[in-house]
Amino acid sequence: MNTEQGHILIIDDEKNYLLVLEALLADQGYAVTALNDPETALAFLDESEVDVIVTDMKMPKLSGKEVVTHVKRDYPHIPVLVMTAFGSIESAVDIMKLGAFDYITKPFSNDELLLSIHNAVEMARVHRRYRLLHENLEERYGLHQIIGKSKGIRNVLSLVDKAAPTKSNVLITGESGTGKELVARAIHFASLRKNGPFISVNCMALNPGVLESELFGHEKGSFTGAVALRRGRFELASGGTLFLDEIGELSHDMQVKLLRVLQERRFERVGGSEEIDADIRIVTATNKDLLAEVEKGNFREDLYYRLNVVHIMLPPLRERREDIPMLISHFIDKIAAENGISKKHVAPEALDYFSGYEWPGNIRQLENVVERCMVMVTGDTVTVADLPPEVKDEESQLKNAIDLLPPELNLAETLDTLEAAIIRRALVRSDFVQVKAAEQLAISKSLLQYKLRKYGITGH
Ligand SMILES: Nc1ncnc2c1ncn2[C@@H]1O[C@H](COP(=O)(O)OP(=O)(O)OP(=O)(O)O)[C@@H](O)[C@H]1O
Ligand SMILES: [Mg+2]
Repeated sequence: MNTEQGHILIIDDEKNYLLVLEALLADQGYAVTALNDPETALAFLDESEVDVIVTDMKMPKLSGKEVVTHVKRDYPHIPVLVMTAFGSIESAVDIMKLGAFDYITKPFSNDELLLSIHNAVEMARVHRRYRLLHENLEERYGLHQIIGKSKGIRNVLSLVDKAAPTKSNVLITGESGTGKELVARAIHFASLRKNGPFISVNCMALNPGVLESELFGHEKGSFTGAVALRRGRFELASGGTLFLDEIGELSHDMQVKLLRVLQERRFERVGGSEEIDADIRIVTATNKDLLAEVEKGNFREDLYYRLNVVHIMLPPLRERREDIPMLISHFIDKIAAENGISKKHVAPEALDYFSGYEWPGNIRQLENVVERCMVMVTGDTVTVADLPPEVKDEESQLKNAIDLLPPELNLAETLDTLEAAIIRRALVRSDFVQVKAAEQLAISKSLLQYKLRKYGITGH
């Protein structure tokens, strides 16, 4: 069956009429299924992909109304077009209230019917695209996309799990690139509002004047340039989640306005008097220390407590280095798939550098470095030579090495540990030829041998 144009199910108890309609629609290139029994037709929906339903109103077993009710309940995305007899305008109104897409009064011209069907097919197409997009979004931003097994990430995931089903406001803090937006989306897609919109606003990107109408919308003519009514993000996010990013940048004036919406759960458009219900869940994020901003008088304390019902703190990557190998392989898979390039292997020495680096730009920086390596490397292995200079920076490597030493060691013990490590490295680099190692370290062979005994290092 050619369903490219759309698959239309016609339900009418009059067989002759059914045949005429079937021929007409098939002629237009639609795939058509014509059934004269509404019950069979509803059963047919369970096993077929139908784009649009055209049903008669008066039928002996089930009425058009019942068909609409049933379809709206079980297949809300399929538009239903109802054919009513001339003169029954009242029931036509009823049927629209039940959620029919359109009605058409008999007798109608072919063009009238075709136009309405065309519109319904378009609508079904938009719906389908939306559903696909939504499934993709869920796939992309679901909880499972937050990679990591460190204690820090496990804490984050359990908080997301607990907070998601509630309507509580969530504040996400963390350094730049730690995944604040990713977590905000994960909260939305794990919540009961996941089928509603996820609307994101960056409070820093907009100047205060624009931000107000961006958030609350404006009435036509409320200021020069307001040529038409515009719905704000609060209104657009209705039934879903509003993500306010960089909340620490909000001006005093806007802090007051936001607080009012949070308290009253209602707001007005700029220049308007009608009160609009704010049915939204608010998730905010900042890389500032918001409490410190409160103490400095830059951020309202009452607003802080309203926003901070659940607080999710994202640890910097350098505090959860054990996640680095997992993140690298996640990004390798992702980048390979997105760019149609082959996956790469990371040499163990290169991985040591990845694990040791400070990552001031956190996961975003790690992702960029992995991407750069994937694109630049011609073979199938990323080696130390392929790493960007900042990752190989000796000073930060050294700092990390020192951070890794057990904190209970005193200075002499720390120095001994380091000396032993340096000697071991020199031995490895000189293929365990002691003369060469002593040369590299600029000490005599006998001093080297003394130290090998002291630290219990055995060469082979
Ligand atoms: N745990 C994680 N697992 C997988 N990918 C992650 C993780 N955390 C962050 N990312 C990825 O890192 C990038 C940066 O994350 P995101 O934009 O959420 O950070 P941010 O904290 O909002 O940064 P900024 O403060 O700069 O806005 C994104 O591509 C995101 O998908
Ligand atoms: Mg962000």
